[in-house]
Amino acid sequence: MTKQYSYPKDKVRILLLEGIHPAAVDIFKEAGYEARVVKSAMSNQELRDVIEPIHVLGIRSKTQIRQPAIGASKRLLAIGCFCIGTDQVDLDAAASKGVPVFNAPFSNTRSVAELTLAEVVMLSRKAAHRSMELHSGRWEKSAAGSREVRNKTIGIVGYGHIGSQVGLLAEAFGMRVVFYDIVNKLPLGNAVQLASLGELLQSSDFVTLHVPESPETRNMVSSREISLMKNGSCLLNLSRGSVVDLKAVSDALTSGHLAGAALDVFPREPGSSSEAFECELRGLENVILTPHIGGSTEEAQRNIGIEVASALVKYIETGSSSGSVNFPHVDLPLVRNRHRVLNIHRNVPGVLSNINRIVAEMGVNISSQYLGTRHDVGYLIMDVDQKISREVKREIDLLDTTIKTRLLF
Ligand code: NAI
Repeated sequence: MTKQYSYPKDKVRILLLEGIHPAAVDIFKEAGYEARVVKSAMSNQELRDVIEPIHVLGIRSKTQIRQPAIGASKRLLAIGCFCIGTDQVDLDAAASKGVPVFNAPFSNTRSVAELTLAEVVMLSRKAAHRSMELHSGRWEKSAAGSREVRNKTIGIVGYGHIGSQVGLLAEAFGMRVVFYDIVNKLPLGNAVQLASLGELLQSSDFVTLHVPESPETRNMVSSREISLMKNGSCLLNLSRGSVVDLKAVSDALTSGHLAGAALDVFPREPGSSSEAFECELRGLENVILTPHIGGSTEEAQRNIGIEVASALVKYIETGSSSGSVNFPHVDLPLVRNRHRVLNIHRNVPGVLSNINRIVAEMGVNISSQYLGTRHDVGYLIMDVDQKISREVKREIDLLDTTIKTRLLF
């Protein structure tokens, strides 16, 4: 009987906190793993107490994974952040412990794009405002200032995952699509890339922002930029609160230069529903305010569950670190009848030659290998023609550069 050296699936301990979507549990189950699900978040102290035997830890945004919990983990293979952000994890500490962290950055792309387009139509028809009037008992049936979006121009700032989807949906409404991005992008459909933000602002009926938060995008739309926008145009921000100067937006709405605005993100967002929401745009006419829900849909939650759990299963079973946020991306296709060595090491010269020497001394042929490095961490996937013994693993583990070694198959 051939001895199996992948870790037995029934011994892999997976702990999912914070009520992660059941779709994630199903992905693990289909792959042969049992995941333990806990509804709540854990404090660092609680985590430190339970983490030692855990192989895979799944969290959302409330659980902080930092030292000393990371240091207390003995078997941790990977962390899954079942959300977009990864600030809640000490990524460097995890990497230097040989633990890649995965997230789901694009699972809610379409959700944001859909809300954006819905708001473009709502602003153009002043529908949110009309609704507020009606809630307060006022029947204002009027076509004044209410327009179709067909043949209007939408200017997309940041033509990444979300921006490009917004462009496609806008075209389906018969809109003209222009975009500005610091990178040259292949336009989808009939979209046209413009050379400058100024050109976009001057030519768009709707300006929608889909850039990341960065020093360059901080207040990238302030009074100067708004003054370049067309009279009667509308501004939408569903990216990050720091991108827009709200005082400038408020002034432009009050003066009538802007006909409307939709904001989903704010410089100061309440931490919970018990905190009041303060913002200079409250109460202004034709302003749609939503509490950072652009990406919050059931579909997105489900997609996040599937995407992160799939990445974790792939990492456990093949060593592929593609999509991790703190690790070199290494992904070598699986070949039948090959045996795989995974080595995470400190990124210093000579590691590869040391490992190759150990393997060569055992008379084992290397069929393929791929090394990736990122900051202080190197990650090697190596396929060999025959099953190598545990002694080889032991020898590799003894190298003072090794952080972690695994054998598969
Ligand atoms: P992405 O990284 O795919 O696209 C961003 C694009 O902006 C890239 O094409 C990049 O080249 C471009 N860019 C960067 N700096 C720029 C600059 N100074 N000027 C012009 N273009 C610039 O990001 P993705 O996934 O499309 O997300 C966009 C924004 O949406 C992010 O800020 C993200 O945090 C936010 N977001 C908001 C959500 C919500 O619930 N409202 C949910 C998901 C994302």
